[in-house]
Amino acid sequence: MRSRARFLKAHPIHPGLVPFPLALLLATVAFDAAGVALKQPGWYIAGKYMAGVGVATGLLAAVPGLVDYVYTVPPRSSARRAATRHMLANLAALAMFALSFWIRGGPGVPPDPPILWLELVGAGCLVYAGFLGGTLVYRNQIGVDHRYAGAGRWREVAVAGSPVTVARADELAPGQMKLVRAGRRRVVLARTADGYVAFDDRCTHRGGSLAGGILACDVVTCPWHGSQFRVATGEVVSGPAREAIATYRVELVGDEVRLVL
Ligand code: FES
Repeated sequence: MRSRARFLKAHPIHPGLVPFPLALLLATVAFDAAGVALKQPGWYIAGKYMAGVGVATGLLAAVPGLVDYVYTVPPRSSARRAATRHMLANLAALAMFALSFWIRGGPGVPPDPPILWLELVGAGCLVYAGFLGGTLVYRNQIGVDHRYAGAGRWREVAVAGSPVTVARADELAPGQMKLVRAGRRRVVLARTADGYVAFDDRCTHRGGSLAGGILACDVVTCPWHGSQFRVATGEVVSGPAREAIATYRVELVGDEVRLVL
């Protein structure tokens, strides 16, 4: 099944849509303030329309953002905390611009000082949210497809019960991984030269997703700060992580790979 997270990893829709509301809403503040200060109605009329389109495109960008938040950002991680603040700051900004759009009157009415202040605070929230968004993309690599040579395409499956079939025997080549979602658990199924292994997706340093890391020579490297774990035993090969990751039993039954949780 083609999962939502796999689709987003291949098509980072949210970062692609964000520039529209960001540019329109920040321009709203500049056009409104300049229009009032210079007594140029055309400028604050443009500000009124940009605010409307900015809020609409912001709501549009929020939909893939929410899907990213639920399916792509690793739970119990530093990125999840940053993503929560990012989402709240963006929602606050949208609420302020929507409110100012609604109460300021028709396009020809110059925005009052309280409206301009509301927009200014909204712009501050947008800048803060943008800073956090940059952190999520450039530091935590949310929505970034960083497949290494031979990693194959992104694979993911949701299962229930234990033991449970999670792959066909020939599905992964040595050096490839697959994310298995079992309820709230995230487990990585990986194939090494010695066969299949399974281990926790959560890096014990700050919660990076190991399924998005690099598997080479029976060692998985976390994409966030480079901690390495031996996949057969879970032991730390190199930090900053200090704590081993949990491993799980994998059984090969006929053509099926079964995971025991
Ligand atoms: S989260 Fe820091 S090394 Fe994995």
